[in-house]
Amino acid sequence: MPNQFDVVVLGGGPAGYVCAIRAAQLGLAAAVVEREKRGGVCVNIGCIPTKALLHSAYIAHLLKTSAEFGVEAGSVKTSYGTAMQRSRKVADQNSRGVDFLMKKHKIAVFKGSGVLQPGRKVKVGSEVLEAKKAVVIATGSRVKGLPQIGLEINKTTVISSDEALLMEQVPASLAIIGAGAVGMEFADIFNAFGVPVTLIEALPRILPIEDADASAELAKSYRKRGITVIAGAKVTKATVAKDKVTLEMEVGGTSQRVEAAAVLMAAGRAVNTQDIGLKECGVQLDPRGFIKVDATLQTTTPGYYAIGDVAGPPMLAHKGSREGVVVAEILAGRKPHAIRYDNVPSVTYCHPEVASIGLTEDQCKEKKLDYVAGKFPFSANGRARGTGETEGFVKILRDKKYGEILGAHIVGSHASEMIHELAVARENEYTVEEVELAVHAHPTMSEAVAEAALDSLGRVIHI
Ligand code: NAI
Repeated sequence: MPNQFDVVVLGGGPAGYVCAIRAAQLGLAAAVVEREKRGGVCVNIGCIPTKALLHSAYIAHLLKTSAEFGVEAGSVKTSYGTAMQRSRKVADQNSRGVDFLMKKHKIAVFKGSGVLQPGRKVKVGSEVLEAKKAVVIATGSRVKGLPQIGLEINKTTVISSDEALLMEQVPASLAIIGAGAVGMEFADIFNAFGVPVTLIEALPRILPIEDADASAELAKSYRKRGITVIAGAKVTKATVAKDKVTLEMEVGGTSQRVEAAAVLMAAGRAVNTQDIGLKECGVQLDPRGFIKVDATLQTTTPGYYAIGDVAGPPMLAHKGSREGVVVAEILAGRKPHAIRYDNVPSVTYCHPEVASIGLTEDQCKEKKLDYVAGKFPFSANGRARGTGETEGFVKILRDKKYGEILGAHIVGSHASEMIHELAVARENEYTVEEVELAVHAHPTMSEAVAEAALDSLGRVIHI
C-alpha cells in the first residue's frame, strides 16, 4: 500500500471517518488510522448502542402500562443481557457500515495506534504515513473516574458507560454520579430494567446545561418513575468495598450517605490527547486541555488540524462530523459554510427526550435580551393524548423586536426529531412568525412547535 496520501486522519469516529469520506468525495487521497473498530465511541460504545438499550427500556415501560391501552401483556419480564446483546448487534452492524463506506470511497484504513510526527506524518506500528496536505487529529474522548474522591473505575463496583453497555446482568442497585446526557440516559435504562437508581448531580439541577424548565420536567418525570434524584450534591468521599460502594455527600449544608451495589461514573469525559505526539509536533492545548484550533480548525502547527471532541465542546458526534466535513472542504480549496456552534442541537435521548438549540431562558435574562417565551404543553396536543405521551412541552424564546429564534427547548416524545424544524429555521435566520406560517399537519406532535410560536406572538389557539 503506498504510504503517501493527501489527508491522513488519526481516529475513525464520527469526526474522523466523515472527514475522510468528504475528502475522498472531493478527489483527495485519504487514510484513516484507528486502533479499535471503525465508528469510534459513538458507533461502538456510545450513541448507537445506548439508543438501542433506551428503546428496550421504552418497550419495557410500554408493556408495563399497556393494559390501559387495551392490551394485556401479562407479567413483564426484562433481560438486560438480551437487550445488551441486541445493542451489540446494532453497534456491530453500524461499524461494518463504516467499513463498507471506507471501501466504497477507497479510503485506506490502518489498524493501530497512530503517533504524530513532524512533517505531516503519522507512525502506525512500523509504517509511516505521509500527508501531502494535512494530518487531521480526531482522537476523541474516553470515560473518566473521580480518583480524587476514591472513585477509580474498577469495572465491577465503580463502572463507566463502557461497562454498563457490556454487562450481562444489572446490579442490585445503582448510584449514578453526574446528571448530564450519560447519567440521564443510563438512569432511564436501569430504572426500566428494575434497578433502584439514585441520580446524583453536583449542580443545583439535573441536566444543568438545559433550560431550567426542562430540568424541572425531567426531575418530576424521573421521581414519578421511582428514580431518586439528588441535585446540588457534592460527593466528598467514596468507600469502595467488594460488593458495594458508600458515597458521602453534602447536600444543602447537610450530610447524606448513599449505598449502592455499583456506581456509574457520568461526570464528564477526558479527551485523548496523551501519547499521540502532540508536543513533538508543536500542537498546543488550550487551558481546558482541548487542542487549540483557529477558525479553520487548524492547530498551532500548520498542516495539523483537529476535529471532534479533542477540538473542544460541545463533545457531540454531529458537531464532530460537521467539523470533519468543513476541514475536508478547506483542504480541497473550498470555502465551506462556517459552523454556527450556537446552533448545534443538544439532545438527551431519555424518556421523555430533551432537545434544544440556542439560548436558555436564564441566558436570555443574563444577556438582558428583550425576549418573550412561548410555551405549549404536550398535554394539550391531540396526538400526544392519543399515544399517552403527554409529558413535556415546546418552548420558544423569541426576540421581541425582530422575531429571531433566540432559543428553543423541547421535552417530550420525539423531541430529538422535532428540534430540527427549529434548527433549520434558526440556521437560516427565519423568524418565529415564519416558522408558524408553514402549515403543520394535524394531528402531530410538531403542532406544538407551531403553537409555541403562536404563544410567543400572543395568538396560541389550543390553550
Ligand atoms: P457532562 O459533562 O454532560 O455531564 C456531567 C455532569 O456531571 C455535569 O452535570 C456535572 O455537573 C456533573 N458532575 C461533575 N462532577 C460531579 C460530582 N463530583 N458529583 C456529582 N456530579 C458531578 O458529561 P457526560 O454526561 O458524562 O457526557 C460526556 C460527554 O458526552 C458530554 O459532552 C455529552 O454531551 C456527551 N454525550 C452526549 C450524548 C447525547 O448527545 N445524547 C450522550 C452521551 C454523552
